[in-house]
Amino acid sequence: MLNVNKYVDINTLDKEAKKDYIDRHSAFIEVEKEVAKGEMLTVTVRVGDEYPHPDDFDHYISYVQLYNGQTLLAQANFEPGAVFGNGGKGNLRVTFNIMANKNLNLTAMAYCTKHGLWESDTVKVVVK
Ligand SMILES: [Fe+2]
Repeated sequence: MLNVNKYVDINTLDKEAKKDYIDRHSAFIEVEKEVAKGEMLTVTVRVGDEYPHPDDFDHYISYVQLYNGQTLLAQANFEPGAVFGNGGKGNLRVTFNIMANKNLNLTAMAYCTKHGLWESDTVKVVVK
């Protein structure tokens, strides 16, 4: 069973290595909080904020998932080195476009091949 890690505000942490470890794995959702019914909703998931994650053959973010509640809406898969080049590093960004027909409770998951599964905070989107 995979252990699921959650974001912790890195400003509350003392150790630089711990801030780096948590920040570079955490998934963040960027989305409008209100949208008209039937509109296409653009949901961007960012992995890491201030600290870049490696993109090496043995250590990379292999997938990003977007959930509405318990329902998997979409998943983007990556090969090692595909985004930043083998040995490169950076903050992965994935954009999903979904039709907004009812209120959403969006959560993103990001999977690191060395450091496991990381869950974002849940973001509510109201559909009017
Ligand atoms: Fe990692």
